[in-house]
Amino acid sequence: MEEKEISQAVIGRLPRYFRYLGELKDEGIERVSSQELSDIMQVTASQIRQDLNNFGGFGQQGYGYNVEFLYEEIGRILGIDRKHNLIIIGAGNLGQALANYMNFERRGFLCKGIFDNNPKLYGRKIRGIEVQPMESMERFVPENNIDIAVLTIPKGEAAGVAEELIRYGIKGIWNFAHVDLKVPEGVQVENVHLSDSLMKLSYNISRFQNDK
Ligand code: NAI
Repeated sequence: MEEKEISQAVIGRLPRYFRYLGELKDEGIERVSSQELSDIMQVTASQIRQDLNNFGGFGQQGYGYNVEFLYEEIGRILGIDRKHNLIIIGAGNLGQALANYMNFERRGFLCKGIFDNNPKLYGRKIRGIEVQPMESMERFVPENNIDIAVLTIPKGEAAGVAEELIRYGIKGIWNFAHVDLKVPEGVQVENVHLSDSLMKLSYNISRFQNDK
């Protein structure tokens, strides 16, 4: 299906649709109306219809949405109908926690390697994956078709390591280091800052208290 340019706001909401639809699918539910989705997801039914209309409208009047079809279409739009091979750079607290989190694999993100520059960590296994020295990356990335790198290293190290990774052919960086990376066109960066979400929570708590 041909897609028109979709706004980042809609793209940002798709993983949530995907997650809920996945749950409905797992429960064996075959179809769902925008109203039912709205009740589960706490988003208005009109927002749901508007969002899903971006893709040519999967719904049918009086029938609702076919759960499996919609789940697969959204997965395809998000590019997770295919597998992504990733590596984690930085085998510290966060890198290890991510490596141990199996659920990414269910979504098609396969952790193939973990790298660090601390020789004490070389050879240590995290969920069966050995930590390797940074020098091995140059060969490892093309040989294993790695397209995503997860950066869980200190912010002062991130720019240099990102540059290196891009030279080896990485196409996407999931960046946890608190620094904005400059990357060439064709390379995508997704920054994750857990503290942003915490600050949003704090804001909403204060707003609620001030409103009372
Ligand atoms: P950590 O100190 O436990 O682990 C960092 C690891 O990176 C260590 O194993 C270290 O040897 C390795 N490392 C350092 N320089 C390197 C280099 N040039 N090449 C390869 N490996 C290198 O730290 P932690 O707690 O795991 O945090 C990692 C990073 O993630 C920090 O920058 C931290 O600020 C950030 N962070 C970000 C969060 C977010 O929400 N974005 C949440 C938690 C941490």
